[in-house]
Amino acid sequence: MAASDPTKPVAERLATLQRTLWRHPHRREILRDLQALIATVDEPGLDALRGKYAERMQKASAASRYKYLDVVFHILQKLLLARELGLHKSPPRRVLDVGTGGGQLPFVCRFYGHQAVGIDVKDAFYDGLSACLDIERTTVRVEARTPLPDLGGRFDVITACDIAFNEKREGKARGIYWSPDDWQFFLNDLVAHQLRTPGTIYLKLNKEARGRLLGFERRAYNREVLALAARNGADISRWRGTIRLAFATPQAIVMDAG
Ligand SMILES: C[S@@+](CC[C@H](N)C(=O)[O-])C[C@H]1O[C@@H](n2cnc3c(N)ncnc32)[C@H](O)[C@@H]1O
Repeated sequence: MAASDPTKPVAERLATLQRTLWRHPHRREILRDLQALIATVDEPGLDALRGKYAERMQKASAASRYKYLDVVFHILQKLLLARELGLHKSPPRRVLDVGTGGGQLPFVCRFYGHQAVGIDVKDAFYDGLSACLDIERTTVRVEARTPLPDLGGRFDVITACDIAFNEKREGKARGIYWSPDDWQFFLNDLVAHQLRTPGTIYLKLNKEARGRLLGFERRAYNREVLALAARNGADISRWRGTIRLAFATPQAIVMDAG
C-alpha cells in the first residue's frame, strides 16, 4: 500500500487510496465504510491543525508524528485491522487501544458499534487530531513493570499499534527498550487485570533502533519479543512485527513455554 501523505486534502487522499485497493476482495465494502467514516471527520479542524503544525511538519522526517495528519490513510489502516480482528461483524465489544495516538482505532471501533477506550500520554498534537475524530483520549502513561489502572472493567480486545511505550526514558539516553521480562510483565498484567476471556491481544511493534552501519540507522523488530509471543501460542509476523494472542481462558505468559 502507498505511504501516507499528510500535506494533501482529504478528498485527494480518498481518491488516491481508493485506487490502491483495486485488488482487495472486499474493496466495495471497505470503501463504503471508509467514506462513511471520513464524512464524519471535522475537516476544517484538520485543516487548522495542518496549518498550526505546517512549519514543524516541513522540518520533520516522513516518519514523524505529523504523518497522522493523513487521516484517510491511517483510518484505512485501522479499518483493515478492525476487519482482521473480526470487529466489522461482531456483536458490541469492549476494546482497549494502548498508545492510541490520534484515536483512529477507537474511531473505527465506534463506527462498528463497539465501545473503545484509547489510552495515551498527554500530547497537544494528538489531542488536536483526536478532537477532529470526536474521540476522547484517556491519559495513562504505560511504564515498564507497572500495572495499568482500572479502566472501567475488562476488555474483549486489547490492541497496541506502532508501539512507542516500550522505549525507556533514562535521562537523555535514547534507544533503550523493554526487555523480554518487561514484555512478559505487561502481557501478564493485561491478561490478569484487563482482558476478558475469550479475548484477544493484538500488538504491532515498532522497529527498534539498532545503531548505525555505514552511515545508515539500522532498525529492526525485537525478535526476542516475537519469539516469546510465539512460544506462548501467538500468531506472529516477523515481517510486519505483529503479535496476535487469543485466549480461551486466562493463561500466564511464561518465558520458557513449550
Ligand atoms: C507511533 S504512535 C502510534 C499511535 C497509534 N497507536 C497508531 O497506530 O496510530 C505511538 C503512540 O504511543 C504513545 N506513547 C508513547 N509513550 C507512551 C507511554 N509511555 N504510555 C502511553 N502512550 C505512549 C505516543 O504518545 C503515541 O501516541
